[in-house]
This record gives sequence, C-alpha cells and structure tokens, in this order.
Amino acid sequence: MRSAASKSLPVIRPLTAADLGQVISIERASYPFPWTKGIFEDCLKVGYSCFGGMIDGQLVAYEVHNRGADEAHLLNLCVHPEFRSLGLGRLLLQHAIDHARAMGCMVMFLEVRPSNAAAIQLYREAGFDVVGRRPSYYPAEQGREDAVVMRLALLPAAFVS
Ligand SMILES: CC(C)(COP(=O)(O)OP(=O)(O)OC[C@H]1O[C@@H](n2cnc3c(N)ncnc32)[C@H](O)[C@@H]1OP(=O)(O)O)[C@@H](O)C(=O)NCCC(=O)NCCS
Repeated sequence: MRSAASKSLPVIRPLTAADLGQVISIERASYPFPWTKGIFEDCLKVGYSCFGGMIDGQLVAYEVHNRGADEAHLLNLCVHPEFRSLGLGRLLLQHAIDHARAMGCMVMFLEVRPSNAAAIQLYREAGFDVVGRRPSYYPAEQGREDAVVMRLALLPAAFVS
C-alpha cells in the first residue's frame, strides 16, 4: 500500500471483478461486519453501479448504488482507512449522486448506523435528510443496531448550480 502522502488527483472508474481482492481488503479494514466477496460479485453480476476511486493507479475507495424505477439506493461507500479525510468520500458520494441523476433518478436513499458520525456528517453536508429509522437493521457487537434512513431529492441537472 502506497502512502496517502504521495497522492495524485483521484480518478473514478467502474469496478470490475479484478478489483474485488482490493475491495475486500478495504471492506474488512473498514467495517465490523463487512460485505463478503460474493455480495460484491452479485452486485457486479446484476448490474448495480459500482465505482472505484483510484490514487496513483491504486484502488483506495469505492461506492455501490442501484436503481429501481426513479429511486436510487446508496448501498456502500467506503474509503481505505489510510486515505480518509482527503475528500475521497465526498468525491465518490457526489459521483454516485450525479450518476443516479443522469440515469433519471429523482431521489436517493441510504441507510447508515446512528453511531457512524463521520458518514452521517458527510451525508448531511451533501444535502441528505433523515427520513426514518429501521429498528434492529444491522448486526452489532451486542445484539442489533438500528439504521437511520436518509434521503436526497435529485433535482434535474438544469436546476443544480
Ligand atoms: C464515511 C467515509 C466514507 C468518509 O470518507 P472520507 O474520505 O474520510 O471523507 P471526506 O474526506 O470526503 O470528508 C467529507 C466530509 O465527511 C465528514 N467527515 C469525514 N470524516 C469525518 C469524521 N471523522 N468525523 C466527522 N465528520 C467526518 C465531514 O463532514 C467531511 O467534510 P469536512 O472535511 O469539510 O469537514 C469514511 O470514513 C469511511 O470509509 N468509513 C468507513 C465505511 C463507512 O462507514 N461508510 C459509510 C457507510 S453508510
């Protein structure tokens, strides 16, 4: 792993099956209950939108979202621990929002753990509002944890400054 200090401008590109080894290593370093490789393989197989953030040719972040009718759902957004607080999370989130809007979606939803202050702050700054709560949604060290449901209206590009 190259250090964050030698970073160049990030590039965003679609993920492929060849990326999943690196994706899984970031996933395991980031979540107490990480997605399995099979989940990512399924996401690629069914055509979910999967994008990676590259620094110096190295995959250091990714996001997964899907689309049903005119609704998009952000399913995963993750940055390698050594590359956090550099703006990559915001960049990939904005890319997901722009991509969903370009695909004709009117709204984006996501779930996040109430304990995940960094992610909630990121989503709030991007304009997401809390619209609900799913009780006992996530596995937790002790029992289960609720999910906070957040929503962003995706205005047509012509209305976005
Ligand atoms: C949440 C996550 C994606 C943020 O990525 P990042 O690249 O570190 O975030 P950025 O550098 O783009 O920061 C953007 C904004 O997010 C918020 N943020 C990021 N890290 C934060 C922290 N530790 N505490 C509070 N707010 C934080 C801030 O609002 C920040 O804006 P600012 O720098 O102007 O204050 C990253 O912490 C991560 O991968 N976490 C593990 C996986 C995860 O929890 N994903 C979300 C699942 S719902």
